[in-house]
Amino acid sequence: MSDLEQYEHHIGGEWVAPAAGEYFESTNPATGATLYTAARGSAADVGRAVQAARTAFEDPRWRDLSQTRRGHLLRRLGDLIGEHADELARMETEDNGKLLREMRGQLTTLPEYYWYYAGLADKIQGDVIPTSDRRVLNYTTREPLGVVGAITPWNSPLTLTTSKLAPALCAGNTVVIKPSEHTSATVLKLAELALEAGFPPGAVNVVTGFGPEAGQALVDHPQLAKISFTGSTGTGARIAASTAARFIGSTLELGGKSPNIVFEDANVANASMGVVAGIFAAAGQTCIAGSRVFAHTSVYDELLERVTERARSIRIGDPLEDTTELGPLAFADQRDKVAGYVDLGRSEGARVLTGGRPTDGGLGGWFYEPTVLVDVDNSMRVVREEIFGPVAAIMPFETEEEVVRLANDTEYGLAAGVWTSDLSRGHRMAARLEAGTVWVNTYRAMSPMSPRQGFKNSGVGVEHGTETIREYTRLKSVWINTSQEPVADPFVMRS
Ligand code: NAI
Ligand code: MG
Repeated sequence: MSDLEQYEHHIGGEWVAPAAGEYFESTNPATGATLYTAARGSAADVGRAVQAARTAFEDPRWRDLSQTRRGHLLRRLGDLIGEHADELARMETEDNGKLLREMRGQLTTLPEYYWYYAGLADKIQGDVIPTSDRRVLNYTTREPLGVVGAITPWNSPLTLTTSKLAPALCAGNTVVIKPSEHTSATVLKLAELALEAGFPPGAVNVVTGFGPEAGQALVDHPQLAKISFTGSTGTGARIAASTAARFIGSTLELGGKSPNIVFEDANVANASMGVVAGIFAAAGQTCIAGSRVFAHTSVYDELLERVTERARSIRIGDPLEDTTELGPLAFADQRDKVAGYVDLGRSEGARVLTGGRPTDGGLGGWFYEPTVLVDVDNSMRVVREEIFGPVAAIMPFETEEEVVRLANDTEYGLAAGVWTSDLSRGHRMAARLEAGTVWVNTYRAMSPMSPRQGFKNSGVGVEHGTETIREYTRLKSVWINTSQEPVADPFVMRS
C-alpha cells in the first residue's frame, strides 16, 4: 500500500489534504490492481474549493485580465496538454481501461479545444440595440457567471472535463471540478497544468471523491453560479431539481440509446464498420453508443453476418497494447451491470448471436465479450435502457416511415446514425430523427467547433461551438439616457 501514489485535492493552486483525512482507491480495470489513492472529498473540502474559486473570481488578476490575455492562457494550457499527451493518455488508459490508441487520439486533439476557445475569448461581445428613443443608448454585455461547478464521468475524463472547463474559463468564470471517483488522476494533473499555464491560483480547482458526498455538496453549495454535468440521466435529474430550486442554470449531457440505421441502398461494408465503431469502440462506454441497430430487411442478413463476424474476431486484452481492440469495462460494477442486462435480455426472449459472457481478459480484469442481440424489439428493457457496454441490439425494418417511428420511440435523443447512398433520404432522415446529433455515413465524429445537445432525456443545454458560451455567461442590458431634457411623464413606461 505504502508505495501507491496518494493524491490530495487541488484547491487554490495547492495540494490540499482532505479535512476528514480519508482517501479512497482507484483501480486499473484491466488487472483489478489498485493504482493510487485519492482524497475522499467532503462538504468541508468542497466549501474550501468554492471559496478559493470565488476569491479568484473577484481577484483583479483574473477579473480585470483582458479577454485576449485570457485566451492566451487557454492557448498555453492547450500547448501544455499537447506536451504531456502521451503521459496523460497512458494514465487514463490505466485508470479506465480504454484503449491507449483511443486515449492517445483524444489527447492529441484535446489541445484544439483549448485553442478554439482561446480564439473565442476576445470575441464574446454584446450588441447595441436601436430602441425607438434615439436619445437612449441601449447595449448588452455578456458577463461571466461566477463559480461554475463541473461534474464529470469516467469514460473520457479529460475530454469531457474540457468540454466544460475551456468555455467556462473562456467566458471569465472560475471552476471547481469534481471528477469521477473512478478516474481522478488526470483531472488533478490538468489543474497543475492550468497553474503552469498561468491561470491564477483558484481559477481551476479539483475536489475528488464520491458523487453522493463531494458531488452532491458541490451541487448544493449556495455560492455556486452554475453546474455543468455529464453522466447518467438519473443523477442529471437530481442535479436539475437542486439547481432549479435555487434558480441557477445547469448544462446536462446525459445518457443515450442511439439508433444506427442501415438502409437498403447503403454501402453495407462501410455501414457494418460504422455499426462496429458505434457500439464496440470504447467497449460501448460512450454516451453516443449506437446501441440500437436498425437494418433494412434486404440487407439485414448481410449486415448481421458482417457485424457478427467482426465482433467474433475482436481482440480482447491489454488496453496498453497497440493490437488490442477491446479493453475492459471501467470498474467491476459496470461489468456486472452489462452482464446483468444481457441476462435480462435472454430472459426477455433475446437471442445472443455472439458474445454474452464476462471474461477476465487473461489479465484478471473486468472484461465483457462483444455481444450481438437479435429477436429483440422496442418493448424490451435491453432495447430501451442505456447499457453502456459492448452490446448491440440489431433489428430489421421495412420502410423509412417505420424506422423513423422505431428510432424515435425512446426516452433519449443524443445521437443517431444513418447509412444510405441517397442524398435526399440522408437529409430527410436528418430532419426527422429526434436527436441532437445526426451522422450520415459516419459515426462518432466530434469537433470543438460543432455544437451538440441532447434532446429529450439526453440533456439540457449546448456543449462545444460558439453556442456554449451562452451557457457560461449572463446577458445584461444597459440603458443610458444621453439627454438632459426634463422627464416628461414619470408614470409611464419608457421605450
Ligand atoms: P453517474 O451519473 O452516477 O456519475 C457521473 C458523475 O456524477 C461522477 O463524477 C459521480 O461521482 C457524480 N455523481 C454521482 N451522484 C451524484 C450526486 N448525487 N450529486 C452530484 N454528483 C454525483 O454515473 P456512473 O455511476 O459513473 O455510471 C452509471 C451509468 O451512467 C453508466 O452505466 C451509464 O449508463 C451512465 N453514464 C453516462 C455517461 C455519459 O457520457 N452520458 C457517462 C457516465 C455514465
Ligand atoms: Mg480507475
